[in-house]
Order: sequence, then structure tokens, then C-alpha cells
Amino acid sequence: MAPKKKNQLVGVDIGSHSIKVVQIDQNKRGRYLKNFGAIGLAKNAIREGDIVEMEVVAEALRKLFKNLKIRNRNVAVALSGYPVMAKRITLPGTDRGEIESVLYDHAEQYIPFDINDVNLDFDILEKPDDLSEEKNAGGETQSIEVMLVAAKKDVIDAYLELLKAADLHPGVLDVDVFALQNAAELSVTGEKEGYAIVNVGAEELGINTVVDGTSLFSRDSSFGGAQITELIMGHFDVDFETAEEIKLGAVKDKPLDQNLETSVSGVISDWALEIKRALDFVDTTYSDKTVGKIFVCGGSCRIKGFQKYLEAHTGLPVMELNPFANLIPDLDLFDEKYLNHMAPQACVAMGLALRSIDDK
Ligand SMILES: Nc1ncnc2c1ncn2[C@@H]1O[C@H](COP(=O)(O)OP(=O)(O)OP(=O)(O)O)[C@@H](O)[C@H]1O
Ligand SMILES: [Mg+2]
Repeated sequence: MAPKKKNQLVGVDIGSHSIKVVQIDQNKRGRYLKNFGAIGLAKNAIREGDIVEMEVVAEALRKLFKNLKIRNRNVAVALSGYPVMAKRITLPGTDRGEIESVLYDHAEQYIPFDINDVNLDFDILEKPDDLSEEKNAGGETQSIEVMLVAAKKDVIDAYLELLKAADLHPGVLDVDVFALQNAAELSVTGEKEGYAIVNVGAEELGINTVVDGTSLFSRDSSFGGAQITELIMGHFDVDFETAEEIKLGAVKDKPLDQNLETSVSGVISDWALEIKRALDFVDTTYSDKTVGKIFVCGGSCRIKGFQKYLEAHTGLPVMELNPFANLIPDLDLFDEKYLNHMAPQACVAMGLALRSIDDK
């Protein structure tokens, strides 16, 4: 029986295309979906992880919580894109305290920002208990592998201001690649092989490679479904919203013609190249680790032809991550078709909803 989880947080994924909210709970039978919903955002209200139109986003958040009748105001949100960086590094030391004392001096070289402009955090990847006697013998300087996370202070402040404006309380501030990793671990039970998670949203393409439960390498790039929407805008001379509808096949008299299909293929192949580059990097840097498959998520993973192309280009099986897969279904509460349609877009919010207030 799953233990009753206290201090649960509402998972809130603030994307550039939409905000997604997931609330889960537990009963005797296991975890179930308590609430899920999304609200679209005006173009450019959020840009690559940056909150541009604070009041527009706060109003959308307030509306979403009201519509879904969510009373819990404690939320988990995630940073993504250029304002945040996560990297595996090796630091001298044997425990958390020692690492903390050398963190700022050593981290500077890895961070693309001024060290004074970021908040630093880290997780020990190899627990001190795992450091064998053998490794400790010989009086050499000991070192620990850690996951370093650096996030821009001004962007963190903007998220805190946004939550305050929406009358929400930050329980956990996560990084979206790690939220996805959490969501993947829930749906991919018993996975022994290493895997990559690729999140193709509207403006960001995030890659994370996970072997033995820890991230080897992650990166966000400025790619996404908005590139295709923009191609359609130019082709049909229509506004962004209409182009979105055409992209999703909702406008019958405007099918994508051959020229447009070719341009879309070009975008898809750029995405696949970017993903392959990351996989090749992991392959050469960690030659003893294997990434055996790719899980895709984010709304744009459903662009026609993308998953097949990625499979052919990388030679790895590609499958969609379904964050609802291992929850007890409540089809009285949720429409199955809607959940299936939204599943790829719900992964980050699901990963966040799995966090609780007691988490760091
Ligand atoms: N079935 C579909 N086929 C193709 N594209 C889709 C489909 N469903 C959604 N999209 C596209 O997916 C994108 C939205 O996905 P998602 O919700 O993952 O983005 P986001 O999290 O808001 O953005 P980002 O993380 O990039 O800031 C939009 O560009 C949308 O047009
Ligand atoms: Mg997203």
C-alpha cells in the first residue's frame, strides 16, 4: 500500500505556450489524478523561460486555479531555458559541508553567467557511503561527483513575484529537466537501460540523458513548435493563433502543401540533429554508459513525422512518455481522449506534482 503523502504540492508548469497544472493524491489503491488542466498564454508573455508579461501570466494562473477549483495554494514550479544550468562536475571533498565550502570557487568556470548573478545548488551523485575504503586509501585528495545547478537570481525573483501575484506559495523551485526525470521514473517502472528524455515544447527543446537513475547530461536549446507556427504564418499570411490551428489540422481548407511540408521537414531534421549531437557527446564522454531509447514529450513531439525521423536519425527506439500511465484512472472525472491528447504536454507538471513540501 502506498503511504499517504502529506504536504502535497500542486505541480505548475509555466510554458511559453500554456500553463499546465497537475494535482495528484493517494488512496489505498495507489496514486490517482486529482486535478489536471491547462490554459493558453498570449504569444511572448513568456519567452524561453523568462516572464515578460508578469500580469498576463499571473492572471492566467489565477484563472486556471479558479476554474479547476484548486484550494491548495502550495505549488512546485520549475525553471527552464537559458536562465538555468545543470551540470555534472567533480569537486574535492568528502561530504556536503566540504563541498559547500569550495562550491563557489570551483563552480565559476562552469557557469555561463557572473557568479554573483546566480544561486548555486548541488546534489551529491555518489553518496559518501558509496565511497569505498579502497577509494579512500592512499591519502589522495578525495572528490565527489555532484550535480551543480546554477539559476539566475533575477529570474528566480521574477518567478517568486509571479507566484505572489497569483496568491500562490512556492514549496519547491525545480528545474524542468529534473521534473521530467521524476515523471519518467513514475511511468517507466523497471527500466534498467539508460534513456534520453526529449521535451519539445513551443520555444524550447530540452534533452536529458539518464543512466542508473541519474542525469549524465542535459541541455535546453531554442527550438520548438513555434518555429513551425511561424513558417505557417508566413506561408498563408495569417496571425499566430490561426497558424496554430492550421498546424493542428483544425482548418480544413488550408492543408500543408508540398513546399510547406519541405520547410517543416527542415525544422524537424534540425531538432533531430541537435538531439543526436547531445547523444554523441554522452557517448564519447561516458563510454561505459549506454542510452538505449528515447522518450519524447512536450506538445511538439506530436508534429507529424518527427518521432519516425528521430528514430531513423539516431537508430534508437523512440516512444512517447505518458505521465498518466501509472496512475489509477478515474474516467468519471477526466475524459480519456482529452488526457491522451494532453499527455505529452503534462509531463513537467506531473514531475512537479510528485514533489512534496518536505523536499529540499
Ligand atoms: N498534436 C500536436 N501536433 C503538433 N504540435 C502540437 C500538438 N499539440 C500541441 N502542439 C504544439 O506543442 C506546443 C506546446 O507544447 P508544450 O505545452 O509542451 O509547450 P510549452 O511548455 O508551453 O512551451 P515551452 O516549454 O517551449 O516554453 C505548441 O507549439 C503547440 O502548437
Ligand atoms: Mg514546456
